[in-house]
Amino acid sequence: MSEIQKTLDNLSQENRTFMPSPEFAANANVNAGIYEEAEADRLGFWAKQARELDWDNDFTDVLDWSDAPFAKWFVGGKLNVAYNCVDRHVHAGHGDQVALQFEGEPGDQLNITYRELMERVCKAANALTELGISAGDRIAIYMPMIPEAVVAMLACARVGAVHSVVFAGFSAEALRSRIHDAQAKLVITADGQNRRGSVMSLKPAVDEAVAASPSVNHVLVVQRCGNEITWGPKDVWWHEFVESQSSEHTPVAFDSEHPLFILYTSGTTGKPKGILHTTGGYLTQVAYTHRVVFDLKPDTDVYWCTADIGWVTGHSYIVYGPLANRVTQVIYEGTPDTPGKDRWWDIIERHGVTILYTAPTAIRTFMKWGDELPASHDLSSLRVLGSVGEPINPEAWMWYRSVIGGNKCPIVDTWWQTETGGIMISPLPGVTATKPGSAMRGLPGIGVAVVDDAGTPLGNGKGGFLVLTEPWPAMLRGIWGDNQRFVDTYWSKWPQYYFAGDGAKLDNDGALWLLGRVDDVMNVSGHRISTTEVESALVSHPSVAEAAVVGAADETTGQAIVAFVILRGGMEGQDGTSLVTELRNHVSNEIGAIAKPKKIMIVPELPKTRSGKILRRLLQDVAEHREIGDSMTLADPSVINLISAGLESSSTDD
Ligand code: WTA
Repeated sequence: MSEIQKTLDNLSQENRTFMPSPEFAANANVNAGIYEEAEADRLGFWAKQARELDWDNDFTDVLDWSDAPFAKWFVGGKLNVAYNCVDRHVHAGHGDQVALQFEGEPGDQLNITYRELMERVCKAANALTELGISAGDRIAIYMPMIPEAVVAMLACARVGAVHSVVFAGFSAEALRSRIHDAQAKLVITADGQNRRGSVMSLKPAVDEAVAASPSVNHVLVVQRCGNEITWGPKDVWWHEFVESQSSEHTPVAFDSEHPLFILYTSGTTGKPKGILHTTGGYLTQVAYTHRVVFDLKPDTDVYWCTADIGWVTGHSYIVYGPLANRVTQVIYEGTPDTPGKDRWWDIIERHGVTILYTAPTAIRTFMKWGDELPASHDLSSLRVLGSVGEPINPEAWMWYRSVIGGNKCPIVDTWWQTETGGIMISPLPGVTATKPGSAMRGLPGIGVAVVDDAGTPLGNGKGGFLVLTEPWPAMLRGIWGDNQRFVDTYWSKWPQYYFAGDGAKLDNDGALWLLGRVDDVMNVSGHRISTTEVESALVSHPSVAEAAVVGAADETTGQAIVAFVILRGGMEGQDGTSLVTELRNHVSNEIGAIAKPKKIMIVPELPKTRSGKILRRLLQDVAEHREIGDSMTLADPSVINLISAGLESSSTDD
């Protein structure tokens, strides 16, 4: 608590507030009455949201919480997710509406209407069936941001297969371990992807992972870049096999609790958790939140969420929520700096984007690149701006509002997690007066509190731990293959609450401020990476005896990974600089480039308590160049001086 208290004390009072404009409020999808409506009858409110979807069998109960913390939502209901995201819009007469406005990094464009999307999903669903996939089977998806990635996910949902999307920046080993954990039968991938003006091959990592994955029978490969790849007996070309299928496919309705997907995320131990989401509750909440938080108008908006499908934001706010709401959206394959650092603003101008949903890291990067880049484009089509993934600092919020939003767009700072499935805390753009840097309050239907160590809810002006006080429709249903870990991680600190792992503060007006993780999870550019995962990767290198990893504050990426490494006996004589490079590459190979430490310090000792626990706080202080505080609990206080002295000598930046 004391650490949180310190942060709280440091947090400057933010008194600026921004009301929605009267015009925006008058045309908004919802008004302030929605809070009272949800308050008066929470489950009735959720039932109403669920009935916005097309159910083959109506549900008999809204929530069964008798086996808490394992929830069942919309009990007895049956529906098909892909049908709800695609077919029903075609049947309602919107077949010619563009669903996806795809833009590749080299500049190639492809508009896909809802009718075309339906045909593509049907073909892919038939292909999955012909490859022996049936309901409940797991499929790993390792793909770039191309339309086929969306089609692949929807095809899985259509046949009841459980997808596990693995971010295409993860290493072969990370892919292998996720394939293994879920026992995936099929991998869907592409030959390569366009990144920063060149082709980055994806297939070699898949080949390596699949060679060590006996569960995999086939690999379905999209030809995106035409780069040379090796072809094995399990490989099947998408453009041959999927394209030759029938474009008709009758969807089967699945139980509301049928598993929809697994998405791996970092926890406090080395092994990533397979977060499990199911069908009816998930789709209900992502569609509802997408409608009210972004104020989506399906006939006129052009929506763009810049996330990757490898993360939960891509699942909930590119694929499922938006498509269930009949969105027209931009999908962009590449990086923001190719061919120029104004690529995003160029995309917004050319596609007429009205709603932009992105991450604070990106916003801070654009701030650094300079105002002239957005200023050289017409961004007047924008009307709502969203932020997700990490706390947004007031400066970045104000910049986003003025430079990108022209001081007219409401900003929705949305707090949620892979585990929550959908947005939980956010302003409503036509209702809430926002404060720069605050996610404001729980959405209608969501129970949020800030509690102290004893689990007692705190009042305004106080800071503590963020908890969710009521079950919610899109909540995770468990951790794949490890339900005990699900209970231990989220429901053991206070059994009546979901423990989110975030610190939070309620200001004097009751607005919520998120303060970052309170566990050993780092947030680097909005990506969750556990310190233990990086430590395990480091100690798997033959030169490393011991490693401690911390997240140090970083101006652009929120946190940066800093590792302290003790070498094995006999290794001390090695060239420090080349070893540091080797270790950084080793972590990249083990996990992926996103987990590559920014700095590695080779140290003779690590600060530990007498019982042998590594004092991460002290290491964090060193990494952030702060004054070292109380080191009385150290087994050997002199260690800290040694580490501090080594700080500049063995660090590497790039
Ligand atoms: C952090 C991403 C502050 C938080 C959707 C959470 C945020 C973790 C915000 C989940 C926000 C996400 N303000 N912090 N608006 N949104 N976080 O699972 O620490 O990748 O626990 O889900 O990101 O990250 P995840």
